[in-house]
Amino acid sequence: MFIPITKATEILKAGGIVAIPTETVYGLAGNALSEKAVAKIFAAKERPFFDPLIVHIAEFADIENLATEIPKNARILAEKFWPGPLTLVLNKKEIVPSLISGGLSTVAIRMPKNKIAIDIIKQTGFPLAAPSANMFQHLSPTTAEHVLQQLGNRIDGIVNGGPCEVGVESTVLGFEEETPVIYRPGAVTKEMIAEVLGMKSGEQGMGSNFQLPSPGMLKKHYCPNTPLCLGVPEVVPLNSGLLAFGEMPKNAGSFAELLNLSESGDLVEAAANLYGMLHKLDSLGLSKIFAVKLPEEGLGVAVNDRLTKASG
Ligand code: TXA
Ligand code: MG
Repeated sequence: MFIPITKATEILKAGGIVAIPTETVYGLAGNALSEKAVAKIFAAKERPFFDPLIVHIAEFADIENLATEIPKNARILAEKFWPGPLTLVLNKKEIVPSLISGGLSTVAIRMPKNKIAIDIIKQTGFPLAAPSANMFQHLSPTTAEHVLQQLGNRIDGIVNGGPCEVGVESTVLGFEEETPVIYRPGAVTKEMIAEVLGMKSGEQGMGSNFQLPSPGMLKKHYCPNTPLCLGVPEVVPLNSGLLAFGEMPKNAGSFAELLNLSESGDLVEAAANLYGMLHKLDSLGLSKIFAVKLPEEGLGVAVNDRLTKASG
């Protein structure tokens, strides 16, 4: 199942689908310009067609083939954060299959930072559509083993690039006129975007509540099989697990399993550990998982978003 880059490139060129590492999470990649390959991705994930995919490119120039126009702020942000965990939603050109964009007139584009991902895009010679390599609504994969568990028998191969560095998905950002709107909080934070654009965070349409009607903004998402609740209960149910952050709660000893996203309270470390620890807790046959919310700042915003959605 684990295949070298050359084999992955071959399969992609032949219209197949393979999981590849990125710096955020593993993606399930296929030729973004092939309706057939894109359809295979939706089928493998059992993802509904209304939830659009991100197109991954290797060079800024690739954007010209995909988007009809590039707002000034999009250019500034791409220059600053690409390659990296920022996805820009732009008006799409006809060449982009409408299957990718769920029938919207826009397309989401990002340039990943992972060298393997970039090499594969360059070697195939076409952009890659790649949603996270998990079954629809389930936990995102941050290791090749996570992908194997969920999708092993549904896809044509997995390129093992080790654990993902960042650990949460990219920030998805669109534009209304020139104003940036965050559709999904991610590794590039609102504060970072505001600073680069010389805006005050929270100003105007800076997507302060992430409530924009984007098809991917489902309330239930990123779910483990074990029920997940936010917060620490006073009375701890039998055989439940705790995903903590920083200092342990007083009743920590009552949980059957304990994992800490970051003992030192580091938000970057917490994001990198998020999915790995959720996969681990989910594999233990617990009755329930309780998760502590992080401070609502920096990467904590993205982690809280995923935990809230994981709690359904
Ligand atoms: O970090 C990431 O973004 C990873 C890696 C593999 O690149 N990919 C990822 O893809 O998380 P996925 O498909 O799991 O999430 C894509 C998100 C969804 O919430 C989707 O609704 C949103 O991007 N999206 C895609 N195209 C869009 C569009 N045209 N307008 C608004 N939102 C869009
Ligand atoms: Mg996903």
